[in-house]
Formats: sequence, C-alpha cells, structure tokens
Amino acid sequence: MKQSRALQAALFACGLAFTAASSAGGGASGAMLGNTCAGCHGTDGVSAGPAPTIAGMSAPYFTETMQAFRSAEIKSTIMTRIAKGYTDADLDAMAAHFAKKKFSRASQSADAGAAARGEKLHDKYCEKCHEDAGANAKDDSGFLAGQHKLYLQYTLSDFMDGSREPSKKMKKKLMSMHKKAGDKGLADLVEYYASQK
Ligand code: HEC
Ligand code: HEC
Repeated sequence: MKQSRALQAALFACGLAFTAASSAGGGASGAMLGNTCAGCHGTDGVSAGPAPTIAGMSAPYFTETMQAFRSAEIKSTIMTRIAKGYTDADLDAMAAHFAKKKFSRASQSADAGAAARGEKLHDKYCEKCHEDAGANAKDDSGFLAGQHKLYLQYTLSDFMDGSREPSKKMKKKLMSMHKKAGDKGLADLVEYYASQK
C-alpha cells in the first residue's frame, strides 16, 4: 500500500486530482463516458503519465479490470472510487470505445544494460502470457511494452506485496523470477518494457 500512496502523490503532483465521478446514466455513448477519463488517461486513453495508457486494450480485459476495481478486488489509489460510478452497460460501452483506439508507446528513457537483462527475464518468465513484450492486446493481460514506467513499477510492487493478487500461474513465475534476480530483476523488467519504442 505504501507504493500505491506514492502513485497517488505522483498523480497529485501532476495535477491529476480527481473531483467527482459522473456517470451520465442510461444510454450515454462510450465516447461521451470516456471523455471523463481524459484528465488522467489522456485524450483517447493515451496518457502522458503517470496514469496508464488504456487505448487499445481488449474489451474483456478493460471490463474485467474495471469490475475488479469497482468491487475493490484490485486495490487502487483512485480507480475504485471512479469505477463505482458506472454500470456494467456503461463499462461495456467504454470498453468498445477504448478498444478501437490505438495504443501509443510512451516516449521515456531506459537504461540499455538493464533493458538487455530485463529482456532475458521477460523471455523466460513472462512472454508466455505477455506476448511481443506485452504489446499484444489479445492476451487480455494489460500492456507492458511502452507503458509508463512509474505505473509498471507500482503495479509490480503491488503484486509483490499482495496489494494486487496476480493469477496463480503468474504469481508462480513472478516469484521464481524474484527468487533468482531479486528487486533488481523487477527494475530490469521495467527498463526493458520502457525501452520498447
Ligand atoms: C484522477 C485520475 C484518473 C481518472 C479520472 C481515471 N483514472 Fe483510470 N487509472 C488511474 C490510475 C492512477 C490507475 C492505476 C490504478 C490506481 O492506482 O487507481 C488507473 C487505472 C485504470 C485502468 C487499468 C489499466 C491497466 O493497465 O490495467 C483502467 C482500465 C482505467 N484506469 C480506466 C479508466 C476509465 C474508463 C476512466 C474514466 C471513466 C478512468 N480510468 C478515470 C487514474 C485515473
Ligand atoms: C500464466 C500467465 C502469466 C504469466 C506467466 C505472467 N503474467 Fe502478468 N498478467 C497475466 C494476466 C492474466 C494479467 C491480467 C490480470 C491480472 O491482474 O492478473 C497480468 C497482468 C500483469 C501486469 C499488470 C498489467 C496492467 O496493465 O495493469 C503486469 C505489470 C504483469 N502482468 C507483469 C508480468 C511479469 C513481469 C511477468 C513475468 C515475471 C508476468 N506478468 C508473467 C498473466 C501472466
């Protein structure tokens, strides 16, 4: 939870303080509903950071993640409060809207040596479910390549300290990776994803 608070602090520093959830209610289009997300997730879901880019996500991943925020199954700094303002129909409409947008990779610096080590770890422990360095929306497992570093860092530490529960299989791989390469391995993975331009 310590890490989540740090993400919240980063958001406030970026002026991304959340004011009010405003569900427009029955029949609003995905585009209209999605406009309220732009303050943090950027125009059409392409974030300038530190909130994650959500453009191009598969509809099932989007909907399941939003429902998990809403029920607080995934702990979050901000998204539980936001997701509570939307019905399943609203979520489906927004899922279809964002799935049509194009994921655009963040332009950010990455350490080449760390990225090379991270690539080896990714291929061994993560690629099976996060194909193409985690760029394939069809995997329904979120985006890693080109996602904002800060978001990846906090998400990985949330998985490590149990604030967010990964699937059993992912947990097994993440823990074996960590046993072998430690916190440095996590940092190397983040550099690898950030190096994907
Ligand atoms: C005040 C900033 C803010 C607003 C407004 C906001 N989000 Fe988020 N969103 C975040 C942050 C920060 C995260 C990372 C999880 C967390 O800490 O809450 C996130 C995470 C997400 C994720 C998960 C991304 C992933 O890769 O798994 C989705 C999906 C999402 N938001 C959708 C939305 C939608 C749809 C809206 C508008 C209805 C919205 N968000 C409005 C800040 C915001
Ligand atoms: C057995 C399949 C599997 C393996 C192996 C796996 N993952 Fe995942 N990962 C998933 C799934 C499914 C999700 C999305 C659902 C969830 O929250 O668990 C996910 C989500 C994530 C997320 C959050 C994405 C977001 O947008 O919020 C990150 C970060 C991540 N994985 C990193 C890794 C890393 C790093 C490895 C290797 C050490 C790894 N995963 C190995 C299946 C896997």
